[in-house]
Order: sequence, then structure tokens, then C-alpha cells
Amino acid sequence: MDVGTAVGACFFVFIAGQSTTGQLISTTLHRALAEPGLWSRAGAGADQGLAEAWVEEVLRREPPVTTWRRVAAEPVTLGGVDVPAGAQLLLMLMGSGSDPEVFDAPDQMCPHRENARHHLSFGVGRHRCPGSSLARTEAALALRAAARRLPDARIAPTAEQPPILGLLSFRAPLQVRVTA
Ligand code: HEM
Repeated sequence: MDVGTAVGACFFVFIAGQSTTGQLISTTLHRALAEPGLWSRAGAGADQGLAEAWVEEVLRREPPVTTWRRVAAEPVTLGGVDVPAGAQLLLMLMGSGSDPEVFDAPDQMCPHRENARHHLSFGVGRHRCPGSSLARTEAALALRAAARRLPDARIAPTAEQPPILGLLSFRAPLQVRVTA
């Protein structure tokens, strides 16, 4: 591998792993602070696995990577639509977590739901995100640690609708302002 390719690969992993996970943590914290009782339960630690389950619901409902691009390698028919070879596709990954045929009451945050992971927020197939376990762990740790260290934190009154990073493929609150 030449140096340029190696540097490019390292840069890609940095972007793929750092920005996405930072965005997941910011949505996780914001949603946890907005959900009655969730913050104190996550900090108390009595509900084993609550932080992990909350992160999974955030990934299902409001993932940091909302869409992903693909190019059709060969002609295929998907859902009755003929897709020619070479067609540019935009996969609506985020929509998969709100599919009522897969999830009961998809618009409700229900930590510990049985099929919580049946979303496509990390993609699918041979290019599925190799950092998914790391990202899940980081976000759950961040939620638990913040809820423990800042038990009285509340969303600042002026910050209930935070500014949102709203790119074609990336979505998350740009800041989570709290008050104690
Ligand atoms: C919440 C955090 C993350 C989300 C939502 C996310 C999402 C995704 C998605 C949707 C893909 C495309 C999958 C596909 O093409 O089917 C992907 C690919 C990838 N992700 Fe992540 N990712 C996250 C964190 C990470 C982390 C922490 C790392 C590394 C430390 C990472 C490294 C990669 C790499 C290297 C690929 C390309 C895989 C390939 O093309 O074979 N990601 N990610």
C-alpha cells in the first residue's frame, strides 16, 4: 500500500469513527435529558443495561448517519422498481428504524424492546460499519458517566430546540446546553 492510500484510509477511519460517534453521543444525551426520569435512572445504575438500551433506541429513531449512497452494480428489481446498472441510490437508513411493520409503536422510545437492533443505522452486508460495537459502547459510557457526574442537569430553558447539524447524511444536535 502506498503512503497516500494509507493516509487516506487513516483519515477515513478518523472521520467515520469520530464525527459519527460524537453525533450519536450528543443525540443520546439530549434525548435522555428530555425523557422524564431517564437521566436519574441512567445515573443510578439500578436498571442494568439502561444506557445501552437507550443508545439503541436513539440509533433506531434518530441515528447520526441518516442516509448512505450506493451505485447499483447490476440491474435489479427492488420493491417492484427496476433499477438499472450504474443507478445512483440514496438509501434512507434512518427510515428503517421507524418501519411499523418491524417495530411496534415506532415513534415511542422503548428501551429494552426485543428487536431493538433491527434497524439499518450501521448499514448492512459486507460494508456494514466495523465500528458499531465501539460506537455503542462509547455512547453508553458517555451517558452513564454524564448522568452520574451531573445528576441535577436539566436542558437549559432556552435550549430545548438546539441547533441541528442537518446534512444529507449526518444529523445531530450541535450542542446540548444544560443547567443544574
Ligand atoms: C454511531 C456511530 C457510527 C455510525 C452511525 C456509523 C455508520 C456507518 C454506516 C451507515 C456505514 C456504511 C455501511 C454500509 O455501507 O453498509 C459505515 C461504514 C464504516 N464505518 Fe461506521 N459508523 C459509526 C461509527 C464508526 C466507528 C467508531 C468506526 C471506526 C472506529 C467506523 C468505521 C467505519 C468504516 C471503516 C466504514 C466503512 C466500511 C466499509 O466500507 O467496508 N464507524 N458506518
